[in-house]
Amino acid sequence: MSETESVLELRAVTKCFGEGDARIEVLKGLDVHVTRGEFVAIMGPSGSGKSTLLNIIGCLDHPTTGAYFLDGEDVGKLSDNRLSTIRNERIGFVFQSFNLVSQLTVLENVEVPFVYRRPHPSGVRERCRALLDSVGLGHRLKHLPSQLSGGERQRVAIARALANDPVLILADEPTGNLDTETGEDVLRLLEGLHAEGRTIVMITHDADVAARANRCIHIQDGRIGEAA
Ligand SMILES: Nc1ncnc2c1ncn2[C@@H]1O[C@H](COP(=O)(O)OP(=O)(O)OP(=O)(O)O)[C@@H](O)[C@H]1O
Ligand SMILES: [Mg+2]
Repeated sequence: MSETESVLELRAVTKCFGEGDARIEVLKGLDVHVTRGEFVAIMGPSGSGKSTLLNIIGCLDHPTTGAYFLDGEDVGKLSDNRLSTIRNERIGFVFQSFNLVSQLTVLENVEVPFVYRRPHPSGVRERCRALLDSVGLGHRLKHLPSQLSGGERQRVAIARALANDPVLILADEPTGNLDTETGEDVLRLLEGLHAEGRTIVMITHDADVAARANRCIHIQDGRIGEAA
């Protein structure tokens, strides 16, 4: 069982940008381990490397050196194509700016993760409806994102993140564009997902938001600080 308990593991991950004199090392050897069912916050000052780390965890970018295991599979050296398949099948993303497709309805937005899956798994539409129900938006299926409030948009994004039944939910400042009260709804939803056994990694600047997770990893100048 032990290997399936590990959802993500970074070993001595570095990330460099640029060449020659302009080369900078943004991540300086990170070890991060998240087990199934954890709700982990990653905090750190601006420029510390949070987004760079998120891009690697989210299979949007490769580490320069070091290893990355996602759900037991070594994904650190996969081709971009394979990486995008893994991303599509195993990770649910929630972004600060929601990233919904403006021309698609609420229901169609939640179905987006299946666009590249042929044939569509059976019951996709029913599953997406049920997910929208579970985030309190069952009555908004045919609306466009522009017809929703910010909090409602983020709830659609959370439903979309769950559509693939991902092993990992990755949230980047999920309450960053929301007022306190609406942000609170979103945090409660994430806490509910955690209570159901989902694994969540959330990046935030905000200590109050980070406190909602059950563990916080501090990143400073490309290294892990104290883990509370
Ligand atoms: N593609 C890139 N090319 C060169 N440098 C980069 C690149 N991406 C990031 N950096 C540099 O890496 C450092 C860390 O950036 P990163 O975006 O990871 O920080 P962050 O912790 O997410 O900051 P913020 O809280 O402001 O979003 C910064 O100094 C940035 O300039
Ligand atoms: Mg960032």
